[in-house]
Amino acid sequence: MALLFHSSGDSPEAWKAALLALEPGLDFRIFPETGNPAEIEFALGWAFPPGALAALPNLKCLCSLGAGVDHVFRDSTLPKGLPVVRLVDDAMADDMGDWVALNVLRFHRRDPEYRRFQTERRWVRLDQPYAKDRRVGILGIGFLGQAVARRLSAFGFPLAGWSRRPKRVPGVESFHGPEQLDAFLARTDILAILVPATPATENLMDARRLARLPKGAAIVNAARGRIIVDEALLAALDSGHISVAALDVFREEPLPSEHPYWCHPKVLVFPHIAAYTDPETAAAQVVDNLRRARAGAPLQNLVDMQAGY
Ligand code: NAP
Ligand code: GLV
Repeated sequence: MALLFHSSGDSPEAWKAALLALEPGLDFRIFPETGNPAEIEFALGWAFPPGALAALPNLKCLCSLGAGVDHVFRDSTLPKGLPVVRLVDDAMADDMGDWVALNVLRFHRRDPEYRRFQTERRWVRLDQPYAKDRRVGILGIGFLGQAVARRLSAFGFPLAGWSRRPKRVPGVESFHGPEQLDAFLARTDILAILVPATPATENLMDARRLARLPKGAAIVNAARGRIIVDEALLAALDSGHISVAALDVFREEPLPSEHPYWCHPKVLVFPHIAAYTDPETAAAQVVDNLRRARAGAPLQNLVDMQAGY
C-alpha cells in the first residue's frame, strides 16, 4: 500500500521518518511525484490540490494533517464515500490549552491595559476581579475545547461550553444548538472559539452575536477565521463593546499586510501557531489507520461528512 503525502506547511522528510520508524516497509510518496496512481491507497495531507485525490482510483482513506478538515471540503471533486480521518493528538491538545490559557489570563489580568500604561510611562493600578467572577465560554467543546476547559479549570473561572449536541463535561455548564447560543454568549466574559469551520459555523460570530456578549468581553479565536465576520469584530472593538481579541486564525493566511488587524491597538495577531501538528506524536495514529484501511477494519477519528467535522 503506497501513501501519498501533500502539504505546503509540514515537512515531508519529518513525516517520512516518523512513519517509517513505525512502518519500515511503507512506500511513502510526495505529491506530485505520485508514480502509478493505482498504487496509492492512503493519502495524508493538508489541502491537496482540487482533483488530485479524484485521480487515485484505489484510494481507501484520506487523513487530514491536522485536527481541522475544512481544507478537505474545498475540493468539490473529492470522491463520494471516501472515508476521511483527522488527527486527535494529546500533544496538540496540550499546546492548545497553553495558548488559550495564555490569552485568557492575559485578558483576565488586564495585561493589554498595563502594556498601554507602560508606553505612556503611567503607574496605574486597576481593579482586579477574581477568577470566580470572570466567566469563560468555550464555543465548540470537543476534543480541543475540553482540553482547554481542563487547563482553565485550575484557575477557577466559571466555565461554559457550546456544542452541536447535548454534552456533559465535568465542571462545565453545557449549552447546545443555535437556540442556546444567545444564552451562552450572554454569560461569557471571555469567549474562546474552538468550533470547526463548517457551513453551519461560517460567519457565526456576526454583529448580532457579538452584541450578545456582555460589554467589554474579550475574544480568543483558535479555530478558523471564517467563524468571525471581520468587519463586525472591528466595529465592536472600535465601539468598545469588545475590549480585545487574540486571533490565531484568519480568512486569508498569511494575514495580508494591509489587513486592519495588523495594527489595531486592541488586536493581538498570531500566525496560526496555537497548536502544531507534530509527526513524532501523531505518526502512531496515522499508521494505525493505515493498517486499518489496509485490513478493511473500522477507521479511528472518522469525520462525519454530513456535519463537516
Ligand atoms: P472536535 O473534537 O470535532 O470538536 C468540535 C466541537 O465543536 C464539538 O463540541 C462540536 O459539537 C462543536 N460543533 C461543531 N459544529 C457545531 C455547530 N454547528 N454548532 C455547535 N457546536 C458545533 O474538534 P477539535 O479537535 O476540538 O478541533 C476544533 C477546531 O480547532 C478544528 O476544527 C480546527 O479548526 C481548530 N484547530 C486550530 C488549531 C490552531 O493551531 N489554531 C490547531 C488545531 C485545531 P459536538 O460535541 O456536539 O460534536
Ligand atoms: C490546525 O489548524 C489544525 O486544524 O490542526
